[in-house]
Amino acid sequence: MSDIILETQGLTKHYGGVHALTDANFTLQAGEHVAIMGDNGAGKSTFVRQITGVEIPTRGKIIFDGAEQHFENPMDARDAGIETVFQTLALADDLNVPDNLFLGREIVKFNLGPFSILDYKAMREATMAGLEKTAVKIPNVNNTIRNMSGGQRQCVAIARTATFHSKLTIMDEPTAALGVQETAQVENIVRTLKEAGEPLILISHNMRQVMDLCDRIVVFRRGRIVANLRKEETDGQDVVAYITGAKTQPEYDYEAS
Ligand SMILES: Nc1ncnc2c1ncn2[C@@H]1O[C@H](COP(=O)(O)OP(=O)(O)OP(=O)(O)O)[C@@H](O)[C@H]1O
Ligand SMILES: [Mg+2]
Repeated sequence: MSDIILETQGLTKHYGGVHALTDANFTLQAGEHVAIMGDNGAGKSTFVRQITGVEIPTRGKIIFDGAEQHFENPMDARDAGIETVFQTLALADDLNVPDNLFLGREIVKFNLGPFSILDYKAMREATMAGLEKTAVKIPNVNNTIRNMSGGQRQCVAIARTATFHSKLTIMDEPTAALGVQETAQVENIVRTLKEAGEPLILISHNMRQVMDLCDRIVVFRRGRIVANLRKEETDGQDVVAYITGAKTQPEYDYEAS
């Protein structure tokens, strides 16, 4: 059995004339934590939207968990075992915190034919346990998401990934809106995933965080992957050189080929 959990081949997304993502060949090994870095507009979130069913790629292949996938919506990807914290958070504004965590996978107490009774107590307890891991203070989890700060929303989304085991976790700039303490807690959640052997794709502009948490760094520039760097073989300055285009890896020199 191959221990590649995710592979993309020639993954491409055009929005009309905008080539947001071109020919991305990406692999992720079981248990591996990979950072995706790149300037604003480099195509990082576009890549994530293609592999999580938010959008349908223009072309290319997605192989996840040993099979080619054609996710048509985010629930398909989630059902397959991909848990994602999106940059623009995919939370339901009008629902409270437990309802957001359990959206689509409610705990059922009784199932009486078409009628089911949900176990609100169990969901609330699991929610509190998940939130505790993020250290964020949410005065009342029964408030709807609409009334929460950006950081509180982010932590609800992260608590969701910490509550449910998944085959792959993707976080798109999870700590961009967080304070110092909350960031440290989220980084601890990432370390816990690593210890549990669960693979992760982390999009981040924070070099210190990436160097602390990830095994490998993949750099995107103008919609293309331009570097694939093992952490031991690189440093912050080197990564920045690829991000800005000052440096090119020979295998990613598109002009030369
Ligand atoms: N729905 C869309 N329609 C048209 N263009 C889009 C759309 N979504 C993204 N783009 C464009 O695609 C490019 C890549 O955007 P993307 O959001 O993937 O960047 P990013 O690397 O995630 O940047 P950031 O670090 O700012 O989050 C940008 O030029 C952006 O303007
Ligand atoms: Mg983005």
